[in-house]
Amino acid sequence: MNYAGILAGGLGMRMQGSERPKQFLRLGEGSDPILIMTLRAFLDCSLIGELIVAVPVEWLEYARVLIAENIEAESVGRIHLVLGGDDRHESICNICEYIDETFGVDDGDVLVTHDAVRPFVTGRIIEDNLDALEGCDCVDTVVPATDTIVVSDDGETIEDIPQRSRYYQGQTPQSFKIKVFTEAASQLSDEQRAQLTDACKVFILAGRPVKLVQGAYSNIKITTAHDIHVATQILRETED
Ligand code: CTP
Repeated sequence: MNYAGILAGGLGMRMQGSERPKQFLRLGEGSDPILIMTLRAFLDCSLIGELIVAVPVEWLEYARVLIAENIEAESVGRIHLVLGGDDRHESICNICEYIDETFGVDDGDVLVTHDAVRPFVTGRIIEDNLDALEGCDCVDTVVPATDTIVVSDDGETIEDIPQRSRYYQGQTPQSFKIKVFTEAASQLSDEQRAQLTDACKVFILAGRPVKLVQGAYSNIKITTAHDIHVATQILRETED
């Protein structure tokens, strides 16, 4: 089975002045809330079975009502809410645990993890993630870096300006075989665990290959108030 793990367990502290976490905001009048846009992208993909959504405990009931009011009744049963963790990695682990307890996990079972705040993910990107997983245990979605990367250890002088063509910006989805992830995550030291920024790093630390899938520059992560303006513009353009 292919599961979607939608990461909506954060509080969006960098989105200043917002009365609710950014995954619940709308991109202009008449738009669906961001979380709903993201859920629709995965519901529309015929290769995805169940969707597991991690949500902060204090927003669990809000999310339940939002989903019931905005998603067609025949699809609501495919969406399961779990508690978000203290950090993003813990939210992913909570999703894996829920899948194991509720459905059981076979060797081939796959989790496509995705930031709830990247509502412009496409069916093509999700399908490319699943195709790429046929040859390996983990894939990452990336776009080539457009800005030159500058390395500085002290923030004052430059150590290096590496060749840009070797650098990519990581997006989501990040997708993996659930059994392999759970096994690798259980072997992390406390120090490694504290450094984790994403699911693919778990595989890198375990010395396992991670394949790249081409993302899209429009697959932005909404982080700040400025990103809401950019995302609203992208949505307008896609609707034209
Ligand atoms: N996320 C999560 N569980 C956490 C923290 C983050 O599921 N404990 C999710 C967020 O909801 C978001 C995605 O991971 O969809 C990307 O994280 P980020 O943009 O950092 O979200 P927040 O943690 O909400 O934002 P901030 O860092 O500004 O507080």
